[in-house]
Amino acid sequence: VASPPLIALAHWPDRAPARRRPLPEIQFDIGDFIPPARTIDGVAVRMPPVYTSFTTLRLTGRQDRAALERALAAVEARFPFSPRGAMVMVGYGRPYFERIGRTVPQLADAERGPTDPPHTKLERNDLLFVVRSDSAATITRALELLTKPDCLRVTSRRLSFHQLGLPRKIAERHELPYAAKIDPRSPMWMGFGDQQVGSSAPPAAIAFKHGPLAGGAILHLSHLIEDLDAFYAEPYEERLQAVFRSNPPPPGPARVFIDTPFRRGDDAVAEQRATGRVGHVSALQRASRDRQGTPLHIRLDAPGFDALDTDVARPKLHFAMLVPTAERFAKIRRAQASPDLATDHRGIERFITATRRQNFVIPPRRQRAFPLL
Ligand code: HEM
Repeated sequence: VASPPLIALAHWPDRAPARRRPLPEIQFDIGDFIPPARTIDGVAVRMPPVYTSFTTLRLTGRQDRAALERALAAVEARFPFSPRGAMVMVGYGRPYFERIGRTVPQLADAERGPTDPPHTKLERNDLLFVVRSDSAATITRALELLTKPDCLRVTSRRLSFHQLGLPRKIAERHELPYAAKIDPRSPMWMGFGDQQVGSSAPPAAIAFKHGPLAGGAILHLSHLIEDLDAFYAEPYEERLQAVFRSNPPPPGPARVFIDTPFRRGDDAVAEQRATGRVGHVSALQRASRDRQGTPLHIRLDAPGFDALDTDVARPKLHFAMLVPTAERFAKIRRAQASPDLATDHRGIERFITATRRQNFVIPPRRQRAFPLL
């Protein structure tokens, strides 16, 4: 899933030894198992394990729950649940629930966003394995165990990485023309960091509250190709306003991590009136927070560099976001594009193209092997 230079370029971070604790009932509630937040550029940031892989699958036969439970147990017996080992999360798409004649009220098919091309594929996978680790080799071994059940067939493999400075190193190694413009400290291709503590919901706040899947949530997975030739043709000030906001732009000097405080009211409308522009973050905040400013999402997205949906390896974002309902994601995505606001400066929309989308249910741990069966 990853070209060897990509793996060779990441460094092995120092980690405190993992402590044994019961594994979380909310599969994505991993706060007790990863290092605490640290402050970078004055902003609290919580870094995930170096690699996050997304593997989509189809069911080719009867749901063999015992085989899937054995596979999950085999991974947990072999690797500790920590960045040093392997952290697994299992999800299920609508096709799975249709097969078993069940519905989940919070789940709906993904829809194309306002700026998606007509060829953006709305995928119909049954299952999703999310495996996170500091080691790409561990992810490969964990996936060998997870994909053992005969009833599963892999439909795509995606590997994302999150480490300060890694996009720049990969760009230099592959002689990408804009390599020198990528901030050498940035964990993301566009030179700014995300994964800020202040723009992530507490896991329990977005988890389903009632019913057999209480403790679950929706995960939207998409695949975004980035046009960095166009992005880095713009000066830093322009890039900053595209990613954040323009009323006013966040203060300098050039920084990688930038605070994204919530502004009450419809700040994107005020921004468009004042400057004729709409930033990625100001547009998103029309739908990404509740009235008190608490985020309604947890982002798991991270950069990638591979040839999925392209002829050659390209910089991309393996986008993944946890939300309480599929409808919330659709609202957040529509807000990001804000088609109601007249502007030629619409956040980062013209620099990203989605080639695939799908929503999954991430059931609670007790239901993670073929839920509602
Ligand atoms: C290459 C593409 C993208 C880049 C470089 C990017 C970058 C960023 C950055 C730097 C932030 C601010 C830091 C933070 O709040 O953690 C942010 C916030 C955010 N992004 Fe993106 N993003 C991208 C794509 C997307 C997409 C496709 C979505 C889907 C809806 C999205 C949703 C969000 C949300 C919800 C926030 C937090 C807004 C808030 O509540 O304050 N991003 N993004």
